[in-house]
Amino acid sequence: MQPDSAIYRARRERVLEQMGEGVMVVATAPEVPRNRDTHYPYRHDSYFYWLTGFNEPEAVLVLVGGAAPRHVLFCRERNEEREIWDGFRYGPAAARESFAFDDAFAYDALDAELPKLLENQPLLAYLIGRDMAWDTRMLGWLNTVRGKARSGVHAPNRMVDARLWLDEMRLIKDGHELDLMRRAAEISTRAHGIAMRATRPGRHEYEVEAEMLCAFRSGGAEAPAYTSIVASGANACVLHYVFNNQPLRDGDLLLIDAAAEFGSYAADITRTFPVNGRFSAAQRDAYELVLAAQTAAIAEVRPGSHWNAPHEAAVRVLTQGMVDLGLLQGKVDGLIESKAYERFYMHRTGHWLGMDVHDAGEYKIGGEWRTLVPGMTLTVEPGLYIRPADDVPEAFWNIGIRIEDDVAVTESGCEVLTTPPKTVAEIEQWMRA
Ligand code: GLY
Ligand code: MN
Ligand code: MN
Repeated sequence: MQPDSAIYRARRERVLEQMGEGVMVVATAPEVPRNRDTHYPYRHDSYFYWLTGFNEPEAVLVLVGGAAPRHVLFCRERNEEREIWDGFRYGPAAARESFAFDDAFAYDALDAELPKLLENQPLLAYLIGRDMAWDTRMLGWLNTVRGKARSGVHAPNRMVDARLWLDEMRLIKDGHELDLMRRAAEISTRAHGIAMRATRPGRHEYEVEAEMLCAFRSGGAEAPAYTSIVASGANACVLHYVFNNQPLRDGDLLLIDAAAEFGSYAADITRTFPVNGRFSAAQRDAYELVLAAQTAAIAEVRPGSHWNAPHEAAVRVLTQGMVDLGLLQGKVDGLIESKAYERFYMHRTGHWLGMDVHDAGEYKIGGEWRTLVPGMTLTVEPGLYIRPADDVPEAFWNIGIRIEDDVAVTESGCEVLTTPPKTVAEIEQWMRA
């Protein structure tokens, strides 16, 4: 048995309880070619891994519900030659034992075995529309079962998107998940500290990125959780800047949005700091505004608060600050109402965080922003992006700032998981040391 196999089995049992009668089929992700015969580093599907802890490609989970529930895995057979080239595979027998399944079959037996598992079941649940080729295979198996109608077999006549149950379950993290998220956050926090100290005029964005990637891997993380953004000067006003190829200039800010994935869980951190270690007056004013917005937003993360409360708090602080700094003119309420603030703050203040950096889970229920409950994990990431324009004070041109941390809702409020230096004083002191 794998040490955590009981945790994954318990998750599958909860899914079966919710689904009742029927069959759920969840395939893992395919390997993706990068060029000719090389592949991108393999990353399993998050739904599949959340339910199995099994990380080989070519694997499918089938959960059979009803009176005689069964947890079934399809996976690659052992293959001496392939294992010499590519490494160990469990094979069905060892996978069944190690990952707490009731049955396991070879992946190549899907066409023969899967239709049998669908026979006389009222409902089929899978990740509808995620992969058109998979949709076609699923419908093919359904038709195989329908083809047996004259022998008295009936096929599922209801189809449900498996996300209906899985997204809500993934949204609330258990203790095992929170521990992994804390590790991802710690490794990423340390990387940001290293990057700040590696930054100075004349180095390049990619050199700082390299320091981060080194810290992720040497900290035991599998990979970056998403493509790192290392954006100096005006590049910080490009929200998804990933070229990371420019020299770092004295007097500019550097925005780094980068974090690690550990145990398949993402962190997501942004810090913005001066290349030369000292904020200018305008940079400091803008920075402290974003920090005040983040502080106000984090104060809204607690049980009973609704999803949009942190965003509304951040928008109010930022809009007031835009008026104070001379970026906008008018009354704050009107500027919020007309969304005038979106010229300088055009994204939302956060998202669910988990196995996917933008994690599973609905944001509204029945048309209303959902209520926060303990175990939810999210980012809080206000920003301010000021492009040059005639009606904008020149001191602020090309300043782009985002401050992003990861928080877990607790019984009494929230736990901030990510802790790189954040105040002006902390950053300047850290970079001086
Ligand atoms: N790094 C992606 C995001 O902040 O949402
Ligand atoms: Mn984020
Ligand atoms: Mn981010």
